[in-house]
Amino acid sequence: MIDIHTHILPYMDDGAKDTGEAMKMIDFLRFQGIDIAVCTPHFDPSSSSIKEFTENREKAFQTISTDNITLIAGSETGYHDLLYQYSDLNQICISNTSYLLLELPYKNFRSEYLLENIDKLMSLFYIIPIIAHIERYNALWKSKINIKKLLGLGCITQINADTIIDKKKRRTALHYIKSGLIDLIGSDCHNMSRRPPNLKDAFVIIEKEIGSSYCDLLKKNANSIIKGEMIREEIARPMLRGSEF
Ligand SMILES: [Fe+2]
Repeated sequence: MIDIHTHILPYMDDGAKDTGEAMKMIDFLRFQGIDIAVCTPHFDPSSSSIKEFTENREKAFQTISTDNITLIAGSETGYHDLLYQYSDLNQICISNTSYLLLELPYKNFRSEYLLENIDKLMSLFYIIPIIAHIERYNALWKSKINIKKLLGLGCITQINADTIIDKKKRRTALHYIKSGLIDLIGSDCHNMSRRPPNLKDAFVIIEKEIGSSYCDLLKKNANSIIKGEMIREEIARPMLRGSEF
């Protein structure tokens, strides 16, 4: 099983605080049945360059040893106009595919503005944004029409395992999964206390509530993403790059 969204790399962001915690998180990912984890530390274009980010990411990889899990490089990139200064964004995409885990701004959110800019980002860089924890953006989450617009652009949608585990949020999330509005689920794990790896716990609930076929599809989608394969036929843009994985 693949966890597509994790903050296990130490010394990078508000995820694992040191190598010890990173190793505990990796052990717990294994316990949750994860054999491949995509490392997606936060990349804030306003505070560092892609070069600095990837160098730090490489150093962080070197601090941990993993013989029981495969780790793949990625990022959780915060949307910012400074992204446009780059000629390409390959290095922050998942395993050098065209898939970029993208965190949208939370304040002063206007869905039209974001949709326009996501479209611009896709057209300029030939990337496919994976909208990180889409449930956190009210203007998107509360409007099926806006989610459909994102999917229509060719974006991929991801929710966090917590949203399935939380009984208050579960119903909408399951409904959206059944409606084909959610492509991926990830743990977005940050530590071993408040935000531990919990993907398996969410899949147990999804299987019980709506059936194993939805689990299979979400898992299959994650597998396609890390290989750089298309997950929905309607993505017409010729922007898929092969994976290094
Ligand atoms: Fe995250």
